[in-house]
This record gives sequence, C-alpha cells and structure tokens, in this order.
Amino acid sequence: MHIFHSIADLRSYLRLQRQQGKTVGFVPTMGALHEGHLSLIEASKAQNDLSVCSIFVNPIQFNNPDDLARYPRTLEADCAMLAPAGCDAVFAPSAEEMYGKANASNGLEPSNAYNKPILKFDFGPLEHVMEGQFRPGHFNGVGIVVSKLFNIVQPDRTYFGQKDLQQVAVVRRMMIDLGFQIELHSCPTLRESDGLAMSSRNRNLMAEERAIAPHIFKGLTLAKTLLLSGHTPAEVKREIAAHFEQQPSFRLEYFEIVDAHSLQTIEAMADAGQTALCIAAHLGKVRLIDNVVF
Ligand code: PAJ
Repeated sequence: MHIFHSIADLRSYLRLQRQQGKTVGFVPTMGALHEGHLSLIEASKAQNDLSVCSIFVNPIQFNNPDDLARYPRTLEADCAMLAPAGCDAVFAPSAEEMYGKANASNGLEPSNAYNKPILKFDFGPLEHVMEGQFRPGHFNGVGIVVSKLFNIVQPDRTYFGQKDLQQVAVVRRMMIDLGFQIELHSCPTLRESDGLAMSSRNRNLMAEERAIAPHIFKGLTLAKTLLLSGHTPAEVKREIAAHFEQQPSFRLEYFEIVDAHSLQTIEAMADAGQTALCIAAHLGKVRLIDNVVF
C-alpha cells in the first residue's frame, strides 16, 4: 500500500495508474478508522481496480475548536487496518499541503499555519436544518474539502456512509451543481452489536457513557415503530423528547422526522424509503449522530 503526504506525488501515481486503464474508487475519511470505514473500502474494491482512501482531519469543517483538538489522530493504526483491507493508496496530507501555507507575502492570512479558503458554499435548504443548523459552517468546510479531494483524486466512483445522511445529500447536490462526473455510492451504517453506530468519536466516550450510548439507536427504533403503528410525527417527537428526558446523561440536540432526500420536516409519513429519522445528542463531551431511513 502506498502512503502519500503530497498532492503532487499522489497525482503522478494516479496518472500512471489511469494510463494503464485502471478505474479508481475513492473513500474520503478523517481517520481513526473502524469497520464502518473499512466497509466503504470493501465496496470500492468490489467495483474498481484501485482504491484510494484519504485521511485528513479537515480543520475548516469543525465549528468547535475543542472537538477539533479532541478528534483522534491515529495514522499508523489506520494504515495497519487499510493495508490488509486491500486499500491501494492512502492520501494523508497536512493542512498546509491541502490549503497552502499562509504567509504575509502571498497575501494569505499569516495568523493561520494554513491558508483558510475564502470560497464559500451555501447549500440553501439542505444546510439550514439539523447538522447545518447546529454546526454553522460545517457543510461549507465539507464542500470545500470534498471538492478539492475530488479534483486531486479524480475518481470514477466515491463511497460515503449513510451514517452522515445530510453529508451525502450535500455532496450529491454539490456534484450536480459543479458537474463532477463521479458515481456517488451511499453505503449502509455499520453498528456495534448493541446498536451503537460505529463512529471515530465513540473512542472518546467514558466507560459509563459507552454503556448507555445505545439509547440513541433505541430511540430511533422506538420512533420508527411508533410511526409505523400510526402515530403522527408530532406525537413521536414528544415521545422521543420524553425518552431522552429519562436519560439525564444525554442532551438531545435535535430529533427530526424528514424527507430522506430533501431533508425537510414532514408532517406525515412518506412513501417507503423516503422517511428519515435523524438525531444528534451530546453524551458527556462527545456529540453523536445517527439516523434510520425507511
Ligand atoms: P469520517 O467521519 O471519517 O467518515 C468518513 C466516511 O465514513 C463518511 O462517508 C462516513 O459517513 C462514513 N462512516 C462513518 N461511520 C460509519 C459507519 N458506522 N458505517 C458506515 N459508514 C460510516 O465524514 C467525514 O469523515 C468527513 O466529513 C469527510 C467526508 C472525510 C470530509 O472531511
């Protein structure tokens, strides 16, 4: 497995591979890899000659500096998982490599080690809800880094997790608006045996918090059952609020019943495959998100 830290080196490697007619699958990540990430590599391997994984803790998509500081960085362990999974190339740039180095003479903001992009993405209604509402600027940062990574890697196919449903919607829309000719695949959420969605942030949970973390998925499952048995979205939202009030360790940030594609709130259940239940909750210092689509 090749490990690249420089854009130029990755580009020349990929140019050679493409000249040999190889197709490229791409999995962008922020590292601290788990089985969920590996399932995306597996999906890429099944459809492409070559699979590339990027590992970059993208500073511009964090609206909370503590969250950025606490984000686990485990490049060596990540590579030790990716190689046996059959990943062909890892791209692990520094922020300076991704965004350019700031200094007074190039007019870039010298107070930052890297150049903060001034381009701004506005995803309109897709980002005024849920993650976009509670993490201002988050999807701008995702849009910038994903479009930049797409330009560098120029993959045939890219693989994202449904775990971040709103991210998939935003990236899909960005690809339409900017005309990226890349197939976007949204892959199922992998869970621990107790239902907790796998996440890099789970490793920041204290043991007591980890023990109760499955309440998030239990809440989603309860909400789905209630909706399917005829309760209205308004009733279900009240039930879920009560479910979390009984769990004082949690601070429920949002629970929304939305159309799975537009992500806008719905007043009644949609057709099969169209309803998404999305949740974000704080448990101690860790913020967790999850969703189910049915
Ligand atoms: P990260 O949180 O590392 O996630 C990388 C990819 O793995 C995303 O597409 C995410 O949805 C997927 N993923 C995470 N947990 C998963 C699970 N339990 N099952 C299946 N897939 C899962 O999402 C990001 O990084 C960043 O925003 C990024 C797209 C890399 C841009 O910086």
